[in-house]
Amino acid sequence: MTTITERVAARMEAPHMDPSWPLDPDLTFLNHGSYGLCPRPVLEAQARYRLMVERDPVSFFVRDLERHLDESRAALATLLRARPQDFAFTGNATVAIATILHEMDWKPGDEILASDHEYMSAINEIRRLEQKRHIRLVSPAIPIPVRDSDQLLDAIMAGVSPRTRLAIVSHITSPSALILPVERLVSRLKARGIRVLVDGAHAPGQIPVDLTSLGADYYVATLHKWVCAPKGSGFLWVNPDSGPRPRPIALSSRASEERPWRDLFLRDFDYQGTADYTGQIAVKDAIAFMSSLMPGGLEALRRRNHQMAVEGRRRICETLGIDPVTPDDLCPSMAAIPMPAMPAPLQGKRYTFGDPIQDRLVEDHRIQVPVWNNPTTGRRWCRVSAQIYNRPEQYDRLAEALREELRREQSMG
Ligand SMILES: Cc1ncc(COP(=O)(O)O)c(C=O)c1O
Repeated sequence: MTTITERVAARMEAPHMDPSWPLDPDLTFLNHGSYGLCPRPVLEAQARYRLMVERDPVSFFVRDLERHLDESRAALATLLRARPQDFAFTGNATVAIATILHEMDWKPGDEILASDHEYMSAINEIRRLEQKRHIRLVSPAIPIPVRDSDQLLDAIMAGVSPRTRLAIVSHITSPSALILPVERLVSRLKARGIRVLVDGAHAPGQIPVDLTSLGADYYVATLHKWVCAPKGSGFLWVNPDSGPRPRPIALSSRASEERPWRDLFLRDFDYQGTADYTGQIAVKDAIAFMSSLMPGGLEALRRRNHQMAVEGRRRICETLGIDPVTPDDLCPSMAAIPMPAMPAPLQGKRYTFGDPIQDRLVEDHRIQVPVWNNPTTGRRWCRVSAQIYNRPEQYDRLAEALREELRREQSMG
């Protein structure tokens, strides 16, 4: 029987040998960012919760569900520095964003500000509102290369007009892995009377989050990404000073129940019909597991992962003979690398992973990393992630594979 200190020491020496991560050993996995990865101990906790549900589903759903969710909510509130009662669990960030967008009282001509690096689920939902509610998306461009956060602040604020009602701002952008200056954005936007929704899908577990001092109106995230909770665990946080709370897109059979001792916001979101809530119940286990990985806890893990991402990008850029286009200090535990545009003969075809280079990386090199075109800017990126199970040589492998594949593309003209 090894002690926790021995296990931590062994992990630090050879984190990729840690059996906690159920990864395919033949795969170079450099895409923690898209869907996260759930470690075995957390999956085991979830399996125990699933068995608990099936021992007596009626008692679970009617009597115990809220109590279990309250335990996870308390752990989440401590991690993100806010009151537990202001968090509602959702299946993911996509649903949380749609919930807020559909609950706002729109008037024709209202504008939503969302830069061209915002995630497509938010943009698609806004496009739907453009048709149904006659509002308008205003999408200022993030300048590339990025010099510093002042430039990002100015670029986003340039999209504000007297008609802006809501701004959606990613805490960490998806295509470019940039930490946006959300604190300054929230204070400048709110000073103009604009509601602010921070899309923090990537932030919890990757960078420190202090919701109380941030003061946004809404904050949403997924917990299956960097908190490494089971898939299907996200949340919506609503500022207690921001007026009436949203209700879920689908009201459950319990929405009309009289239970004055429990807040409607919690009643509404804790039960959204029969579903598998065990991922959300295991959020507390995920937070505890991730906090136990390094002697300095989550803060030490974040620092290590950030350094690994930046070092990985440095190696790749050196091999490809290019410069990074975003500053190291604005990278979290991910870093984006600009890719040359897809040659004309390859455009308009069908690719399994959306891009011919990503297909070849997976199929020929067994490397999983996103290579994608940002649909709003047309710019092509490769985004590397760094998590405890990654090691520096994996970025060298990717660098060599990218060099080979880009040469092949160039030869096609
Ligand atoms: C910035 C951002 N927002 C929202 C999402 C959606 O997350 P989910 O698929 O968990 O709903 C993502 C997913 O990658 C994202 O990067």
